[in-house]
Amino acid sequence: MPIDVAAPVIANRSLSADYNVVALGAPAIAVAAAPGQFVMIKASTGNDPLLRRPFSVFEILRDESGTPTGLSILSKRIGPSTRLLYDVRAGDRVGVLGPLGRPFTVVEPPVGAWMVAGGVGLAPFATLAESLRARGVATTLFYGARSGAELFYLDFFRGLGVELVLATEDGSIGDRGRIVAPLDSRLSARSGDAPLMLYACGPEGMLAATARVAKRHHRPCQVSVERIMGCGLGGCYSCVVPVRGEHGGFHHVRSCIAGPVLAADQIIWE
Ligand SMILES: Cc1cc2nc3c(=O)[nH]c(=O)nc-3n(C[C@H](O)[C@H](O)[C@H](O)COP(=O)(O)OP(=O)(O)OC[C@H]3O[C@@H](n4cnc5c(N)ncnc54)[C@H](O)[C@@H]3O)c2cc1C
Ligand code: FES
Repeated sequence: MPIDVAAPVIANRSLSADYNVVALGAPAIAVAAAPGQFVMIKASTGNDPLLRRPFSVFEILRDESGTPTGLSILSKRIGPSTRLLYDVRAGDRVGVLGPLGRPFTVVEPPVGAWMVAGGVGLAPFATLAESLRARGVATTLFYGARSGAELFYLDFFRGLGVELVLATEDGSIGDRGRIVAPLDSRLSARSGDAPLMLYACGPEGMLAATARVAKRHHRPCQVSVERIMGCGLGGCYSCVVPVRGEHGGFHHVRSCIAGPVLAADQIIWE
């Protein structure tokens, strides 16, 4: 069962003019959360905005003994809730419901893991990278953003022993252009005998491109889809995704309960 708490804000760290990380005192949710799961957040105490918004669990916060004390979210300011979250202060209260949704399936060696992140799609990969590295999985993060100033937490991933492949649209760091291009070329160079799992999160166009590349190279791929979610609990059907059915047909699944993590080859990319 998901847990619903009015969590105290422990800290709010601005990363740029639009991105911030909010640490929340929600230990019971943190203990239960698996990589790829999300929480529904009510940033306002009033009715505007009325509905909660979904956010990936970014980090699990721990005390010196390793006991979870809370979680953080990585937020990109695009509308009313993320504007409020950008400005929260330590001691404020934020409604947090979770953990929700189906998590990533975490592979074991000798399978390698390549995570593909676009912009704020980085969010589910901090906890996934920790789980993969704890199992000894060779892990690479392909991470793209508009500019080098929007590539965050690089030292965190390096510290876990994750190899980084970076791309920016303005070419200020890494390859110039979209992150799927270096993914494609690295897949071409990798032996087909070396088992690999791809994980992707980011804008839908990037997910669709990653799914195409994965299919061309015959690699399994799990994507975390970001649909508009009204409830996060399966009740409103705002989040449906078309998936393949048997005998060439298709049907819709609610990505808040069947996902947000889905097999890329299951989804009908429009
Ligand atoms: C499972 C899941 C995990 C997510 N994790 C994060 C996260 O870790 N960090 C983060 O910053 N955001 C995340 N998001 C996206 C975030 O929930 C939305 O951006 C949210 O709507 C922002 O709320 P808002 O009130 O600020 O803006 P809103 O007013 O809700 O949205 C602003 C504009 O963006 C559009 N929009 C909202 N959601 C989406 C979407 N999913 N796809 C395309 N357009 C959309 C709206 O139609 C509107 O035009 C996640 C979404 C999902 C489904
Ligand atoms: S968000 Fe309401 S059914 Fe998925």
